[in-house]
Amino acid sequence: MTAPALVLGIETSCDETGIGLVRGHELLTDAVASSVDEHARFGGVVPEVASRAHLEAMIPTFERAIASAGVRPQDVDAVAVTAGPGLAGALLVGVAAAKAFAYALGKPLYGVNHLAAHIAVDQLEHGTLPAPAVALLVSGGHSSLLLVPDVAQDVIPLGSTIDDAAGEAYDKVARVLGMPFPGGPPIDKAARDGNPEAIGFPRAKYHDGTLDFSFAGLKTAVARWVEARQAAGEPVPAADVAASFQEAVADVLTRKAIQACQRNGVCDLIVGGGVAANSRLRSLAAERCADAGIRLRVPRPGLCTDNGAMVAALGAEIVGRGLSPSPLDLPADSSLPVTEVLVH
Ligand code: KG4
Ligand code: ZN
Repeated sequence: MTAPALVLGIETSCDETGIGLVRGHELLTDAVASSVDEHARFGGVVPEVASRAHLEAMIPTFERAIASAGVRPQDVDAVAVTAGPGLAGALLVGVAAAKAFAYALGKPLYGVNHLAAHIAVDQLEHGTLPAPAVALLVSGGHSSLLLVPDVAQDVIPLGSTIDDAAGEAYDKVARVLGMPFPGGPPIDKAARDGNPEAIGFPRAKYHDGTLDFSFAGLKTAVARWVEARQAAGEPVPAADVAASFQEAVADVLTRKAIQACQRNGVCDLIVGGGVAANSRLRSLAAERCADAGIRLRVPRPGLCTDNGAMVAALGAEIVGRGLSPSPLDLPADSSLPVTEVLVH
């Protein structure tokens, strides 16, 4: 048997420049340079700043990845890159770099979907994905439930947020509480010392029978609650607010994820995306999956947030299937639909 292809993965859809090297399900290296500090004072990612940071970080991150994997550029068998969805200018930097690497090395280029990559990355940790599986994808830009008969070529949307993404709600609530950007990690940390039942924040769409989400009302409810305390001159119990907000998010996400599995007769749930790093989401998902007889797979937190290894992992799966590569005039598509796993 010949060794699986060595796949270079490039990720630049938001504020992380990620370069990963993967062989089959084996992760060789995952180099990430983040421009998050440059965005922090704006309370959100500034597209132009992100694009420039990707441009500056691309070659050093590539060199770091190659060196730490102990391979040579010419050992790379295929180049995979996030073609979308994401910030248009940021995606363009990664796509242009991927084209240059593929052309210079004489290797095939695969433009892949960022969302499918968040699912495929789990193979690096837990092996071949069960099929079909349901995926709960929760990040700064997306919150979706997906039916995944085949992560390399068949991803079917079951539901998604009708307004804010879960990560966006974390980032906005953190801002209200005076915590830094991105808001997920500080809220997760603060919530450990808080009471999740202290405040009954709303759980939108909880009983509506759909597999959609809505987090805009929750975000506003938290802001109003905090403002009312401030207006009354009372101290804001940040830990309780964080814990109660986090409980509302985790409750809705896990409830609907279990429903998605049950309605589709699926026994395997994969949780991915930056918010999958959240400790309460992970523990509540484990609890509810165990009760419902559903097997749960969640990548380790470092593989949940954006990185190049996830793109390489999806690329490796696609290459392994012998699917034909993308053209060298591959476009970046900021609103690439989740159903388009590989761009042609
Ligand atoms: O997947 P990701 O790295 O980038 C996008 O594709 O958007 O997700 C970033 C999001 C941010 O909103 C961040 O606040 C959130 O993931 N996040 C978390 C945690 N770590 C990152 N949210 C909750 N708890 C965490 N521990
Ligand atoms: Zn992402």
